Amino acid sequence: MKNDVQALIGAQWGDEGKGRVVDVLAREADVVVRYQGGANAGHTVIVGGKKHVFHLLPSGMLYPNRLCVVGNGVVLDPEQFISEVNGLDPAPEKIGTRLVVSGGAHVVMPYHKRLDVLSEQARAAKPHGSAIGTTGRGIGSCYVDKYNRIGIRVEDLVRPEILENKLRMNVEEKSLILEKIYGEPGLNFGELYEKALGWGRFMAPYIGDSSIEIDSAAKNGKKILFEGAQGTLLDVDHGTYPFVTSSSCVSGGCCTGGTLSPGRFDRVIGVVKAYCTRVGEGPFPTEDHGVIGERLREKGDEYGVTTGRPRRCGWLDIVALNYAARINGLGVIALTKLDVLSGFDELKVCTEYETDGRRSDVFPNSAYVLEGVAPVYESFPSWREDISKCRTFDELPAAARDYIGFIEKSTGVPVGLIGVGPGREDTIFRNF
Ligand code: GDP
Ligand code: IMO
Ligand code: MG
Repeated sequence: MKNDVQALIGAQWGDEGKGRVVDVLAREADVVVRYQGGANAGHTVIVGGKKHVFHLLPSGMLYPNRLCVVGNGVVLDPEQFISEVNGLDPAPEKIGTRLVVSGGAHVVMPYHKRLDVLSEQARAAKPHGSAIGTTGRGIGSCYVDKYNRIGIRVEDLVRPEILENKLRMNVEEKSLILEKIYGEPGLNFGELYEKALGWGRFMAPYIGDSSIEIDSAAKNGKKILFEGAQGTLLDVDHGTYPFVTSSSCVSGGCCTGGTLSPGRFDRVIGVVKAYCTRVGEGPFPTEDHGVIGERLREKGDEYGVTTGRPRRCGWLDIVALNYAARINGLGVIALTKLDVLSGFDELKVCTEYETDGRRSDVFPNSAYVLEGVAPVYESFPSWREDISKCRTFDELPAAARDYIGFIEKSTGVPVGLIGVGPGREDTIFRNF
């Protein structure tokens, strides 16, 4: 079967290890595309012991000859973009045309980040409301402007007159909001305008038409990998709304945010952590507030790479995973962090939810219903061995193979790649 065009998505609440799986698969890919989200993402890649974190650039950037595309569905923070490009090795001058940013991507302005933080603080302070626990990267406020059709796009940064008009309108509106709603100082147009023109000058060589780039790659039989950010349960439509991000993180988001028609995708890869984590607020049925959660966090080094917050941890949730398999049409699972489960006395997997004495294996489409469910677990024997040096499925202890077998049986999706450590080489391929 040919797998030239693949979507790779997070099947849980983000931080499944998408960056490291993209990095491993990018060895065989010609093009890697980010299609949604922004610098709220933190994708870690470890090569030769050196850690690289990508917030905006596709995780394929470490290979010298990959075309990396930032699609129109992304909200792009130019300050973050510039610092990420400047931090690249080889230096930016050598990147040439291998990095293309869609002119249609929306620009995260400094006021989006301020409004994000202020709105979170206001929500937290209200007795009837609750904060989402956003990353403070201006994601929601930027997407609001996009859908309100007042957003500034990357293409505007190199059109001084259009930029001036759009920015004036936004500065007026945002200043009113800052002053009247939040009692904060308003914005200085001139300062922002000069900054934005500077961003435009830096970004000009990278701005292009991502749809043409991707279409021509697909027509020429190139291998294209779409790199999702966040995860299915943070998707604005299909996640645990309102405790979600503001973009389409599911596989369908590739088509609009990454510009390729549905019929051209060969396969969807779901990245699944061998247990569950979540950062920020919102329901999480298998969250463990005791020693298991603490142990998973310490062994798995579960601290956010974007905000440094400790991640909430708990056992694998098959009910939620089956939902992700359905929503995304998963063709294969990349199972990460299996090594973290070594040495537990027993492993648990949630197979059903119980509400008022009734059991169900269906993931509820309401965060408020999900909040009230109790997980029903099946227990599995663990293994004592360090599995980080295993490079084939058969080298894994029987209990680890059984754990994988259970995931496959319960979801009907094969596990084709297994992460046994954070490094590029710590990967087992199995009929991938
Ligand atoms: P992403 O946002 O989905 O790309 O994931 P993050 O980079 O935010 O978080 C995943 C973390 O797990 C990173 O620190 C990775 O280095 C690490 N990681 C990924 N895969 C594995 C694995 O198989 N084993 C271990 N021990 N760590 C892993
Ligand atoms: P990657 O790509 C984990 C969470 C935030 C918050 C909610 C909304 O690294 O997997 P936002 O700033 O997007 O408005 O915050 O979404 N969140 C993530 N959690 N991994 C991420 O990205 C996330 N990006 C956003 O913690 O709960
Ligand atoms: Mg992350």
